[in-house]
Amino acid sequence: MKRIDGVALRAEGKRFEVLDQTRLPDVEVWLDGTAPEAMVGHIRRLSVRGAPLIGVAAALSVASAAERGDGEASLRTSIARLREARPTAVNLAWAMDRLRAVLEAGGGAAELVREAEAIHDEDVAACDRIGELGADLVQRGEQILTHCNAGALATAGIGSALGVIHRAHARGLDVQVWVDETRPLLQGARLTAWELGRLGVPYTLVTDGMAGTLFRAGKVTRVLVGADRIARNGDFANKIGTYTVAVLARAHGVPFHPVAPWSTVDLNCPSGEAIPVEQRAADEVLGAKGVRWAPAGARVFNPAFDVTPASLVTSLVTERGVVEGAWLSAGGLARLA
Ligand code: MRU
Repeated sequence: MKRIDGVALRAEGKRFEVLDQTRLPDVEVWLDGTAPEAMVGHIRRLSVRGAPLIGVAAALSVASAAERGDGEASLRTSIARLREARPTAVNLAWAMDRLRAVLEAGGGAAELVREAEAIHDEDVAACDRIGELGADLVQRGEQILTHCNAGALATAGIGSALGVIHRAHARGLDVQVWVDETRPLLQGARLTAWELGRLGVPYTLVTDGMAGTLFRAGKVTRVLVGADRIARNGDFANKIGTYTVAVLARAHGVPFHPVAPWSTVDLNCPSGEAIPVEQRAADEVLGAKGVRWAPAGARVFNPAFDVTPASLVTSLVTERGVVEGAWLSAGGLARLA
């Protein structure tokens, strides 16, 4: 495997490791990524997370197994198991389908490694392009709200929504960021705050329920969020709580942009209704880190994602261009394919 030195992934020779995001921000622990079955667990536990990153990490894991000598039957099983590890982010299925196609065309370890490296490199390049296109939308002194983590920890590159913030900051646009904590697993508080701190971007952390007050006070000028699956009609799934922010943005006349690489677009999915939404364990809502604060046995609803209709989107930023909301709703995405 070629040398990879990313924020969330690193590889060289026979070594491939993923940063354990469940341990951030306090400790940086790297996990072995070379065994596909262990990678299924890393993805399910959210040690590796974020739509583009899980596709890239799963691909590199299959490539490592092929390099180690796993046979075709075993590789096929690994691809199928990884494909099912999480259901909502289409990038995972997309990456696994690319590797399966290589096997079906008679490819061996060298071809699988090449394809996995291409999946990685394409995501890095997509993030760079998205960052530039998105930063063109941002005016000096903006106060941008983001939800969950759509940064370098969620991609192979500089991130999608956070990639735009990264580039806007690098352009000297004096942006400030409102970081939604993102209950229940706190990707905003733990991960986005960590990334923005490393980049030197000024940010303020708020709990999800505080967003309304910020909008009402005129303190949010733009919303940038990631996406896990974008349907053909522009509806998209992202971390639970994104829809609430989209409604607030519309109510207050604030521009709202999903930002994602093309690998997140699923033209086979007609609309948001057809996006599978992952349901997660009750204990994530009952408490955290082994401490329960809700009554034992309390009934819990814990969807990991929600769906925002295209009608609430000002524009979608992808590496293929910026698509206006009206055009999205009119089926414009298919024309970019
Ligand atoms: O459950 P997670 O942490 O994997 O959810 C991640 C998100 O919802 C991100 O916003 C999305 O994957 C976009 S990442 C560029």
